[in-house]
Amino acid sequence: MTRDGDQSPTVGIGEMLISSRSLDEYKAMFNLTERDLSRKILDCPGGAAGLTSAVNRLGGDATACDMAYFDRKAEQLAGIVAAETCRGNRYIRANLEHYDWTFFADPDEHLRLRQHAVEEFAADITRNPHHYVAGRLPALPFPDASFDLVVSSHLLFSYSDRLDLTFHLEALTELMRVSRSEVRIFPLVASGSAALYPHLDTLLTDLRGRGVEGEVVEVEYRFQRGAHHMLVCRHITQ
Ligand SMILES: C[S@@+](CC[C@H](N)C(=O)[O-])C[C@H]1O[C@@H](n2cnc3c(N)ncnc32)[C@H](O)[C@@H]1O
Repeated sequence: MTRDGDQSPTVGIGEMLISSRSLDEYKAMFNLTERDLSRKILDCPGGAAGLTSAVNRLGGDATACDMAYFDRKAEQLAGIVAAETCRGNRYIRANLEHYDWTFFADPDEHLRLRQHAVEEFAADITRNPHHYVAGRLPALPFPDASFDLVVSSHLLFSYSDRLDLTFHLEALTELMRVSRSEVRIFPLVASGSAALYPHLDTLLTDLRGRGVEGEVVEVEYRFQRGAHHMLVCRHITQ
């Protein structure tokens, strides 16, 4: 069974990327409102994304959690994620037809904005290491209901070629455990594919059995073709 942390190259981009989406991308991927951004937020996996640094700089309260933060100093991580940003951009240039060029005008803009997010991440993890917590799904180092809102981008569903249904169920259950109210996941398609995750109905049924209701919601973000929806999960209240 393929589980967390399996870095074996398969289809799509190959080895799992440590990517660096910006706050603007997160806003569009998750339909985030100003009210959402004023809540206590967990970004898991945070990777080298810009949400945590930007939200905290604006006076909010965001924490990133990722297994990439284990056993690496900030300086070492900064070097790795800078190289990862170039790898991600190379993949996109080689697969232009899989992308819709409206959010980003072209691959150069994609590279520039992702590099900017990496710089913000590197500066913030150096200055504020407590914003970045090492953790590995499906077991996170936070007490129950620690956050108001949990966002999770480009791990679940994206890497369903190597993470199986059991991992998805356990990871979502864990993300819900640490959230007081809501978890949002984007996208619902695999990297390199425009097809909806094939086990979504089974996953939603299993989640309902664990007291979690999932709803598929269209979002504004347009980049990977076919990736237009997030999954919003909420605790079922009697
Ligand atoms: C494609 S990146 C997404 C990062 C960020 N959410 C973004 O959209 O830019 C995937 C991330 O998942 C992390 N990851 C992979 N397996 C994980 C696990 N089991 N628990 C926590 N993080 C994991 C990787 O280290 C990597 O940073």
